[in-house]
Amino acid sequence: MKTIALTLHIWRQAKPSTPGQLEKHHLDNISTDMSFLEMLDVLNEKLTREDREPVAFDHDCREGICGMCGAVVNGIAHGPEQETTLCQLHMRHFSDGDTLYIEPFRSRAFPLIKDLIVDRTALDRIIQAGGYVSTNTGGAPDGNAIPVSSIISEQAMDAAACIGCGACVASCPNSAAMLFTGAKISQLSLLPQGHPERKERALGMVQAMDREGFGNCTNERECEAVCPKGISIANIARMNREFLKAALL
Ligand code: SF4
Ligand code: FES
Repeated sequence: MKTIALTLHIWRQAKPSTPGQLEKHHLDNISTDMSFLEMLDVLNEKLTREDREPVAFDHDCREGICGMCGAVVNGIAHGPEQETTLCQLHMRHFSDGDTLYIEPFRSRAFPLIKDLIVDRTALDRIIQAGGYVSTNTGGAPDGNAIPVSSIISEQAMDAAACIGCGACVASCPNSAAMLFTGAKISQLSLLPQGHPERKERALGMVQAMDREGFGNCTNERECEAVCPKGISIANIARMNREFLKAALL
């Protein structure tokens, strides 16, 4: 088993109202088979044995599907591997003696809770503003009864791959949530089932995005570069078209 030694500088902040700072730690014998979160587990076991406060970080599935994990590693949201969540990033991508700076996703719309944990419920409130299909009466219609071309269904499925992690926001110089919102609007607007509410959806979700304090897209494409699910900025263009059509017609 190959092992490496690391120097970590991790953001520690006990609560939102107290100042935070980077805290330095050395770790030896980190197996290159470990995931990044398992490496943080090792650090936390060490801190617990030393009767010190473990580092708080979000996680759940550890399979790259839930969207809970996320931190900025050496300036890159979710770390250096493309299309990879932090939980799926493995230590074999780092070298013996590396120094890692680990910080929370930073955005005014993501207030810090503790250490590496930020409050991303602003994204949930964007979904609540229209990111669904209402079925007010009767059962849901049989999806197979409505023909959808394979190209359109593939585009909808690609948009639906967004796990709501917020890395796009953290990497955008404007803290824009437009890749996330564009994906959530696209996955429904592309399909016939999403058409009846598309106008209210586009208006509601874009307004919610502004209300939450996210910025606007200036085509930096940093969001697309860090997205662990490869969401394309074509979804931002589609969102803008949906919004303009809804606002003008
Ligand atoms: S668009 Fe990508 S980076 Fe943004 S929330 Fe969705 S999966 Fe995460
Ligand atoms: S813990 Fe679920 S995506 Fe990383």
